[in-house]
Amino acid sequence: MTDTDISALTEEQARAELERLARLIAEADVAYHQEDAPRISDAEYDALRRRNLDIEERFPELRRADSPALRVGAAPAEGFAKVRHRIRMLSLANAFSAQEVSEFDSRIRRFLGLDAEAPLAYTAEPKIDGLSLSLRYEKGVLVQAATRGDGAEGENVTANARTVDDIPERIADAPEVMEVRGEVYMAHDDFAALNAAQEARNLRPFANPRNAAAGSLRQLDASITAARPLRFFAYAWGEVSGRLGETQSGVLERFRSMGFSVNPLTGICDGPEALIARYEHIAAERAMLPYDIDGVVYKLDRLDLQERLGFRSTTPRWAIAHKFAAEEAVTELLGIDIQVGRTGALSPVARLRPVTVGGVVVSNATLHNEDYIAGKGGDGEEIRGGRDIRVGDWVTVYRAGDVIPKIKDVDLSRRPEGTEAYRFPDTCPACGSHAVREPGEAVRRCTGGLVCPAQSVEKLKHFVSRAAFDIEGLGAKQVELFHTMGWVNEPADIFTLQERYGPGKLQQVQSLEGWGEKSATKLFAAIDERRRIPLNRLIFGLGIRHVGESTATLLARHYGSWSAFEAAMRAAQEDEAERQGLLDIDGVGNVLATALIETFAEPKSRAAMERLLAHLEVEDVEAPSGAGSPVAGKTVVFTGTLEKMTRAEAKARAESLGAKVSGSVSKKTDIVVAGPGAGSKLAQAEKLGLEVLTEDDWLALIAGA
Ligand code: IVH
Repeated sequence: MTDTDISALTEEQARAELERLARLIAEADVAYHQEDAPRISDAEYDALRRRNLDIEERFPELRRADSPALRVGAAPAEGFAKVRHRIRMLSLANAFSAQEVSEFDSRIRRFLGLDAEAPLAYTAEPKIDGLSLSLRYEKGVLVQAATRGDGAEGENVTANARTVDDIPERIADAPEVMEVRGEVYMAHDDFAALNAAQEARNLRPFANPRNAAAGSLRQLDASITAARPLRFFAYAWGEVSGRLGETQSGVLERFRSMGFSVNPLTGICDGPEALIARYEHIAAERAMLPYDIDGVVYKLDRLDLQERLGFRSTTPRWAIAHKFAAEEAVTELLGIDIQVGRTGALSPVARLRPVTVGGVVVSNATLHNEDYIAGKGGDGEEIRGGRDIRVGDWVTVYRAGDVIPKIKDVDLSRRPEGTEAYRFPDTCPACGSHAVREPGEAVRRCTGGLVCPAQSVEKLKHFVSRAAFDIEGLGAKQVELFHTMGWVNEPADIFTLQERYGPGKLQQVQSLEGWGEKSATKLFAAIDERRRIPLNRLIFGLGIRHVGESTATLLARHYGSWSAFEAAMRAAQEDEAERQGLLDIDGVGNVLATALIETFAEPKSRAAMERLLAHLEVEDVEAPSGAGSPVAGKTVVFTGTLEKMTRAEAKARAESLGAKVSGSVSKKTDIVVAGPGAGSKLAQAEKLGLEVLTEDDWLALIAGA
């Protein structure tokens, strides 16, 4: 049923629907909180809760005693201690075709200044479908094991890791400090046996081996982990004193000699064709392997070249994951729901007759936008041969890796009689405001702004999300509840919650099922902890359009402090030079600059920010890796021919040392590095009396930094 159906419900239907929703939500809560095995996606869960609220709003007298609106999941488990990774645990960029693999190789060659024929070796390793783990050894003794978490901070699971047979407790010839990283996974037969045991004890089975491995490793009681056979493949490392080898393959060999399991399908390839051949080989083996893999990881073999290439914000430039093709299934499209996101975007979601795709039950999928449903692409061109998608159609669903399922095609031969083309709403289903589509945009947006409850609740969910304020005990579901109760309408309200519902009034928070005095007190303590917040997290948490996690970090590093950032955003509104200053930041384009400036120009959003800032102490951010480097904070221009490195490499290296690299020389430039053939930029630099260095001077300056 879609949202509009609610107005057509009879009382009897509404009662039955509320009962159904209470049951579905309770089941989902148990699966999520107690079994570490979510059976539906967050979006689907949210949609159930929203529908429940909408029906209760229309029929308040039908609200059930066990209404999901009065409950917040199951009580959260007592957490594990946090571990800060000394070297971040990164993820990998993906490739889905031979073409993308060849582009990966070309990018690396371009960066290093190598031609297409130069020999360049890569390792190809199966991509194990488990969860990554970092093992720290000191003087050859395992002292700590930590999950990836958000990459910067994970959970301390040392006691559990000690129960895994593949993880050595002691290593004879290890460096003083060595962090070995790899994947924890569960083999197929162990998974089947575990699920049989679960069912025999009337417990819900795990959805797949990866969930089973995660659920087993993240057990507070290590004796439970010990009873569940987990395995480990080593493939990477974090902090290490001394060198482990000269190549990726050499280090893997070293790991093997230390007693770790290294995947036997790992091979060395001398270029993109050999990589693809290896990929085909591993793909052919896949069905016979006793564990799940979801692709092949390619890594540049030479570690000195890896170092030169370095990292983008969250992924290395020297590695890529070539994913296996998505799995598909055919099912019936039961309905199309419209969800409203935090920026007001109306997103159509397909409600499907549940179907298994690659081992996971899928009951909804994204439909992207109204053009996609109509069979039109981004530039108005036909997609799927122009076939539109209608409720009642039979559609092909696919999943690529972990991403939300998508709809690929529609089978017109099975289209029922009398269907009609889908009419995309032009009002917001959450607040009824007009939903408009700007020229050139694919997305229709609600114009309700702060009055739209869907937008404000999505903004709040974003605000408390992991990369933003990350308040323990205040997740998406709790925020939704507090919003429904009218307790929290905007971020600032979170910080006055205790004042308004604290001692004495605590009763009200506790009266929600699942909350005792202890959890309420803990929540207030967790909120207090976040009154001090690093600038990058604050900027990300504001939920400004186009400002993702890495953009927020970029801005925070550039401006350093909230006052500098805010002043610059305000100034950019009126002053063209200031706007240009914003655009000069590498990584800031017109669209982003406009979104930032508009947010700070809008009186209501500015007032909301002021209310929030009144409760916060914002920590300044420095350009971290560059701190202490001789070029940190300097603006550098490269001109002319560089002979020892490519332009891309020079830029990446300078930025990793905290310098800003600009394309034009001005009074704000600190250093100009000029190679042979430098022309007008060098002349300009000399005219302005700037410091001009040769490539060798530059390399000497940054040597050792
Ligand atoms: S290397 C800096 N190698 O895939 C690179 N990762 O999508 C660190 N994974 O978070 C990762 N098999 O959990 C690497 N042979 C392999 C892998 C592998 C599985 C996982 C790992 C990582 C994720 C990235």
